[in-house]
Amino acid sequence: MLEYIIVLLIFSYFYIKRILKNKQEKKNCLSILIASDVHLSFENIKKLEKWTKKNNRKFDLILNPGDFCNLNEEQALAGDEGYLVVLEELKKISKNVLYIPGNHDSKYLFDSVPQDCENPEEWQPLPVQALTEYNSRLSDRNIHNKYVKIHEKNLYIAGFGGSIDAYLYSDKDKIEWPGFPFSEQQYGMGFSHLMNAWDKIKKNSNDALIILTHIGPAWIGTTAKHEKPYNENEKIQSGSEIAYNMMKTIKYQEKDTPLLWIHGHTHAGKGMTDFGTIPVVNPGGLCYGRFSVLNLKYSNDQWNIENVEFHSLK
Ligand SMILES: [Fe+2]
Repeated sequence: MLEYIIVLLIFSYFYIKRILKNKQEKKNCLSILIASDVHLSFENIKKLEKWTKKNNRKFDLILNPGDFCNLNEEQALAGDEGYLVVLEELKKISKNVLYIPGNHDSKYLFDSVPQDCENPEEWQPLPVQALTEYNSRLSDRNIHNKYVKIHEKNLYIAGFGGSIDAYLYSDKDKIEWPGFPFSEQQYGMGFSHLMNAWDKIKKNSNDALIILTHIGPAWIGTTAKHEKPYNENEKIQSGSEIAYNMMKTIKYQEKDTPLLWIHGHTHAGKGMTDFGTIPVVNPGGLCYGRFSVLNLKYSNDQWNIENVEFHSLK
């Protein structure tokens, strides 16, 4: 009998130890669904929900880099609450949804838009907000012009929505997609203002940052739209040159390098690329059934990208 009890105790010890180890490992991992550019495709959100159930996937949170809706500038300035319906559908997949507005979303998703100023040329970004106390219940949150701590192990995300004019690589004066609500100068001012705030928020050398924007930096593969078949004269530039110029500096390439930069907007630019030392991910548009899964792991006192999955719904 005594031998039986000893064996049972030894077995229980190792079993509990293993459970605690697994729990700790899980705590140091994040699985994030990136779903961008829904453009009111409820059908594809439903398909995505089915995909997650079928593949038994659970996400700690969803990141949505904007374009919930299909509003033109006039409609966006009039205000619209269509995004709320999209948000409710996404929350069926994970209750934690962090999002920013795209250029086809209501002005109410921005903290301020130049069009509401008496003189839009004089628009200035509002102060950056920061939620630096970690709360495991992230819930659904608009993070435009904000920082949020998304993991107790010093992982933050900063968001900035909206777009600027997209133009032909071969002719900068040829606007292909009109931006909303910013000009390049205004966007650059807002984005720089957001990034400069990191200097005050960052407290430890291992504090990690994910950038979530609707448009990405100019001159990289994920913000270029190519025609099929390829035609150099039709190639579109949809990123921000000011954001590119800021993030190519030694400060961000070698010292304060973000863990990852996620953007949407350029449906055809889906994929992952390296902007120098900064990895950039564009999941493609969920309106075309495309989405990504980002798996992060905290080990050796720092956050690492385990892998980025790219999926396409049938
Ligand atoms: Fe967009």
